[in-house]
Amino acid sequence: MNQPVLLPDSETRQALLERASELVDAMFSDQPDWKVIDTTLTSDAVRERIAGFDYSEPRAPQEVLEQTFALLRDCGLHVGHPGYFGLFNPTPSFMGVIADLLVAAFNPQMGAWHHHPAGVEIERQMVLYFARAFGLPDTAYGHFTSGGSEANLTAVNVALARMYPGLAKHGLRALDKQPVMFISEEAHHSLDKVAQQLGLGLDAVIRVPVQGPEAGMDPAALEQALNQARADGLDPFLVVATAGTTNAGIIDPLRQVGAICRLKNLHFHVDGAWGGSLVLSDKYRGLLGGIEYADSLILDAHKLLSSPMGAGIFLSADKAWQAAAFDVEPAYVPRSKAEGMDNYRLSSQFSRRFIGLKLFMTLAAAGKQGMAETIDTQVELGELLGQRLQEDGWRVVNGARLGLVCFENPDVDARDEGERARYYEAIARHVVDGGESWISATQTVGRPVLRACITSYRTREAHLDRLVSNLREARAKI
Ligand SMILES: Cc1ncc(COP(=O)(O)O)c(C=O)c1O
Repeated sequence: MNQPVLLPDSETRQALLERASELVDAMFSDQPDWKVIDTTLTSDAVRERIAGFDYSEPRAPQEVLEQTFALLRDCGLHVGHPGYFGLFNPTPSFMGVIADLLVAAFNPQMGAWHHHPAGVEIERQMVLYFARAFGLPDTAYGHFTSGGSEANLTAVNVALARMYPGLAKHGLRALDKQPVMFISEEAHHSLDKVAQQLGLGLDAVIRVPVQGPEAGMDPAALEQALNQARADGLDPFLVVATAGTTNAGIIDPLRQVGAICRLKNLHFHVDGAWGGSLVLSDKYRGLLGGIEYADSLILDAHKLLSSPMGAGIFLSADKAWQAAAFDVEPAYVPRSKAEGMDNYRLSSQFSRRFIGLKLFMTLAAAGKQGMAETIDTQVELGELLGQRLQEDGWRVVNGARLGLVCFENPDVDARDEGERARYYEAIARHVVDGGESWISATQTVGRPVLRACITSYRTREAHLDRLVSNLREARAKI
């Protein structure tokens, strides 16, 4: 038989794997010396390089590998760089990279147990491991998702199915009142998208004030908002607390919000996309006190757990709620030997990638202690960065939480909000253009700030010093 065009012969395969491993290995060694990003790149320049591929003729696989690697190296933001103080994207763990290679090669369909018993059971074990670590009841279950956004979508889906048992059949229009959900002013934008996707609409999302730049959702304001909504003829069904806000790393008062939900019979969801990973840390787990009351919760392994993207985890306190939201029984899928273990009957996806393997292999190789040390170091480096910035004349506004520092220049306090926002954007741009560090500007509690987050397990004190010096230079120029 001729060699299939999609599968080179063994000698070529080995040569390709060897070369790919050389390139990836060198990348891990050399990346800290690269620019975090080349900001002189234009879309035309990138497109010109890609335009060379017109697929009219086949090319040697070696050439495709070399050119693709060079394109990815030259034309992207290197989140694996220790000077990347960015938006929660980690340096991927090396075991995670290896796992993704295995996943692509085996290509298991994780929708149904019978397709890959080992794969489904590995994910089951991991999901239960985290459910227990969070203190969820024995009825808890969950699944891996593409990321936090899909996991939040799943959570609201599950909350609706749980709180409105007729919904799956009759739809939202059969309800006599408008269901409304409550999130904090600082909650992630994915929840707005969720409301749009599920037909609730943005009007169904009520944003509760936070207590300040160093504190989370105000429980008194939540109670007031719930009462007001009821008085307005609306039907509150869900409260989402955030464990580690995107802007400032703040954890909402989980215990208090959870207690309000219990008392008022509301679904309590915790978005722990960033901060949920603290559950592995003996030192910081206490910050998540109250998370055990969650009816559902999410975390992203592709944030503080350093998995390659995307790797979200959705957990619900009761597996039956997942089935209520998603169960179907099409004739074309063979029945499973393992009752209740088919992911496609408990989640929205059918064809499903083996997302959990990268976390499984990372955690298995590092051990819980190794992961905890990595997390602790990132959080502590955030605290140290906060101190260094204060010493250099900046003002830290969020107490440097969970590895994340929001800071201001007191010298520009007198300027109006718009001017300050432009000033901080200019500072961030100047730093990023230098190529040694990457930070961004944002707003927390309506206040323009600079934001730097320790997202790489390779970041060390020397990188903090470099960032502080990059910022000093930017402040002198702008
Ligand atoms: C608090 C929070 N929730 C949800 C998300 C969405 O996660 P993802 O980007 O994996 O979809 C993020 C992303 O940063 C986040 O910070």
